[in-house]
Amino acid sequence: MDLSVNLAPHHKVELRLRNPIMTASGTFSNGVEIAKHYDVERLGALVSKGTTLKPRRGNGVPRTVETAAGMINAIGFQNIGVSALIAQVAPVWEKWSVPAIVNIMGETLEEYGTLAARLDGVPGVAGLEVNVSCPNVEAGGMEFGQDPRAAAAVVREVAANTSLPFLVKLTPNVNDIRPIARAVEEAGAHGITVMNTVPALAIDVKRRRPVLANIFGGLSGPAIKPIALRQVWLASSVVEFPVVASGGAMTGTDVVEFIMAGATAVQIGTASFLDPSAAWRILDEFEAWCATEGLKSLDEIRGVARRRD
Ligand SMILES: Cc1cc2nc3c(=O)[nH]c(=O)nc-3n(C[C@H](O)[C@H](O)[C@H](O)COP(=O)(O)O)c2cc1C
Repeated sequence: MDLSVNLAPHHKVELRLRNPIMTASGTFSNGVEIAKHYDVERLGALVSKGTTLKPRRGNGVPRTVETAAGMINAIGFQNIGVSALIAQVAPVWEKWSVPAIVNIMGETLEEYGTLAARLDGVPGVAGLEVNVSCPNVEAGGMEFGQDPRAAAAVVREVAANTSLPFLVKLTPNVNDIRPIARAVEEAGAHGITVMNTVPALAIDVKRRRPVLANIFGGLSGPAIKPIALRQVWLASSVVEFPVVASGGAMTGTDVVEFIMAGATAVQIGTASFLDPSAAWRILDEFEAWCATEGLKSLDEIRGVARRRD
């Protein structure tokens, strides 16, 4: 049974995964710690913590809160910055056979270009995920992902500065995701990740204040899976390139659902907070399902739920 997928089938540099299970940005750190306990090389791909040009300390605390069937976070991009990532983390990734994808976030168009240029040709970096959808920063982030022209401009800037394959991570916080998905495909991205967290709020009645220091945050976990499924369905109905699903996947069956909606690969995020080995359990469950169904290739089920016959 061949579970491999290619996230950049139309690009000169391939992004081939041995299976469609990826980690989601910000929920797995940069993979180095977890690799001491679990076999990261079994996974399809790793996605780094959102990386910015300069190191960032992130928002004040509290930054996370558990909600019904999910959690809200407003980390605010605490990260070591791209120079430290290149110097300290990429050399570790280089030794691994699993592709590592760097999630990047700029405050300006120029910063996206600079980040892409810095990471181009770095051994150990297999691709980029360009975040135009972060709800937890004042500048940049989601603003770029809510307008097809702004999103396309980011894509052109990244494409001009790297030969790496790259995905663009979209926000669900738009009227219609389809024009954005089409715009980033036309501008030269190699795929999209659908979706980032859903903007949300929690209130502490004792303190009579918002729970999070940042007030608002992004909702993730099983609560958002039906929203993510719909967005994956909509986006993959208008583009040819790969759609990577992100949002509430907790089981192997969830992965099958996302692929049936049109996804090529599926990221595991909040599930890892409940259980650090969730990605491996989900991979086991998914492989078992494929074996039971006698699947030869994932092409047999990709987008099958959208068929009208
Ligand atoms: C604590 C936390 C930190 C996150 N950090 C990032 C980030 O740095 N960049 C990014 O693009 N997405 C980030 N995300 C969003 C996840 O990658 C994922 O898209 C989202 O949580 C939905 O998937 P899930 O329900 O499986 O967690 C973060 C999510 C959480 C919960």
